[in-house]
Amino acid sequence: MVDEDTTFQLRMDRYGPELLSGLRGAYGDAAPELFERLTATIRDALIARSDELKVLDEARLLSPDWLQRPETVGYVCYADRFGGSLAGVADRIDHLKSLGVTYLHLMPLLRPREGDSDGGYAVADYRSVDPRLGSMDDLTALATTLRREGIALVVDLVLNHVAREHDWAVRARAGEQKYRDYFHIYPDRAMPDAYEQTLPEVFPDFAPGNFTWDDEAQGWVWTTFNSFQWDLNWANPDVFAEFADLLIFLANNGVDVFRLDAIAFTWKVLGTDCQNEPPVHELTQALRAVLRIVAPACALKAEAIVGPQDLITYLGQGKHFGKVSDLAYHNSLMVQLWGALASRHTRLFEVALSNFPAKPASTTWGTYARCHDDIGWAISDTDARGAYLEGHTHRAFLAEFYAGLYPGSFARGLVFQHNPVNNDRRISGSLASLAGLQAAVQAGDQGQLSDSIARINLLHTAILGFGGVPLLYMGDEVGLLNDHSYLDEPEHAADNRWVHRPRMDWAAVAAAEADPSTPGGRVLAGLRHTIGVRRRLTHLHASIESRVLPSPDSRVLLLTRDHPEGMLIEAYNFSEEVVELPTYVLRDRLGDTAVEQISGYDYSLAPETLLIRPYQPLWLTAG
Ligand code: GLC
Repeated sequence: MVDEDTTFQLRMDRYGPELLSGLRGAYGDAAPELFERLTATIRDALIARSDELKVLDEARLLSPDWLQRPETVGYVCYADRFGGSLAGVADRIDHLKSLGVTYLHLMPLLRPREGDSDGGYAVADYRSVDPRLGSMDDLTALATTLRREGIALVVDLVLNHVAREHDWAVRARAGEQKYRDYFHIYPDRAMPDAYEQTLPEVFPDFAPGNFTWDDEAQGWVWTTFNSFQWDLNWANPDVFAEFADLLIFLANNGVDVFRLDAIAFTWKVLGTDCQNEPPVHELTQALRAVLRIVAPACALKAEAIVGPQDLITYLGQGKHFGKVSDLAYHNSLMVQLWGALASRHTRLFEVALSNFPAKPASTTWGTYARCHDDIGWAISDTDARGAYLEGHTHRAFLAEFYAGLYPGSFARGLVFQHNPVNNDRRISGSLASLAGLQAAVQAGDQGQLSDSIARINLLHTAILGFGGVPLLYMGDEVGLLNDHSYLDEPEHAADNRWVHRPRMDWAAVAAAEADPSTPGGRVLAGLRHTIGVRRRLTHLHASIESRVLPSPDSRVLLLTRDHPEGMLIEAYNFSEEVVELPTYVLRDRLGDTAVEQISGYDYSLAPETLLIRPYQPLWLTAG
């Protein structure tokens, strides 16, 4: 039996240097003192961790690829909208299990400010749960229940800001210098104006500017997001110490994965856009080292919705290779999926993916088609040029297409945060409404209906097939449409992202279960089937990269996954046309016959062409 002191020492030997080097990178000479302070906290936390969690630590140390396996399926929901409360979520585990879910992200659940809290992303207290959902004990109980069912619990850790009502901000306003130093507060406009020269705007519509005058604080407070979300000063080592403490507190209460909200914004440098600054990765490395010592069962997930060259740094580049977040959202994949559906053209998708840097094999993408946020058209001008497109025009096309303004568009989305300065228009809307189900139902057109269901299936299959943790977004499994009831709720009415944050429609789930021929039933059955196929397909382990295979037909995306057990080729038809795909590209790699894993059919690749149905996905292995 290895005693705790030995475990602590072994883990300090392994991760202590990573912790110290991260702290040095961020805090220079202040690092050794902070390291000493943290060491005591870490040791106490390791000892205090429950026996059940210590067993989990050992189990995951033996299976470091636990998030990469093809049987890993993620699900994202609001606890209240899904189950009413934390206890209510436990009552719905059967539904999650029926989808094969092994990873459950419950949207912000720590105590938010009252009134508008940006969907819970304005946290007033990280050590207690939103009382409408339950208590910290309820969270621990839910985590335990989920764990015993094989489901990891994912919780948001909002790093960049706290609510104006958080105790630190209250004390800052009361004049305590220690807490004023937790924030960026300026007496006049000199510094804010200097920073604003190069800062973009996240919410140009309902929260213009990046600073807010606060009468009580007698200063301009840095507020990147809403005026009630105060940005923290991560250059202050005390802020790091607070968050290291929060991380291990929540880990010891049973949280498995931390979604590091708005991580890109945490370090500010004058003259830059104050995103993706190198010290962000020093901080993440240090936070991860703390977690690896106390709770090696836990993982970090970066929420960095940034361009590809920056995004890859969140999974570790250069000296941080494999030392920062374990997971990151693949925002670019999401954008390209919608882009290809609108244009029925996959060239830009090919260019964007081909230009995408490779990730460390130990890290994992979070793949998704929809989430609780809007879709921003993150397409670089360089990638667009590579596909003979003009970036600005193409982004404008996509915005108009998904707002349903473009002639013939199947989508019914809403414009979110129109920025009149650069004409940037992001889009809100549920997966089904953006994929055409709403328009098809309204038109009562069976052909459109089938196309829209096939599009939903295509998107789900693509996120299941790319490699990574597929993140299913609550309601999409039965094709829930846009929900306009947010307009009746004063704290949500101004923010149309709530149009795709519905209450779970359990009647729709029951109807889909009862009748697989309804639209919801068809979506659900297709999704379950593909998840089942994926689980058995070792080629989909996330350590392997999906690579672009130049497609002989511009409507079809081809991806290869070169696994030691053999090649998997994925084909996705992004058009409503039947495509005759030349088979030589497949034959060269798979031989004369292929097994299509989703349908189970054997295809002969001897004929010159292979027919692919409208929006059909194919996962082909050698026959
Ligand atoms: C993240 C969240 C988003 C929120 C923002 C500010 O981007 O996903 O919903 O508005 O952070 O916390």
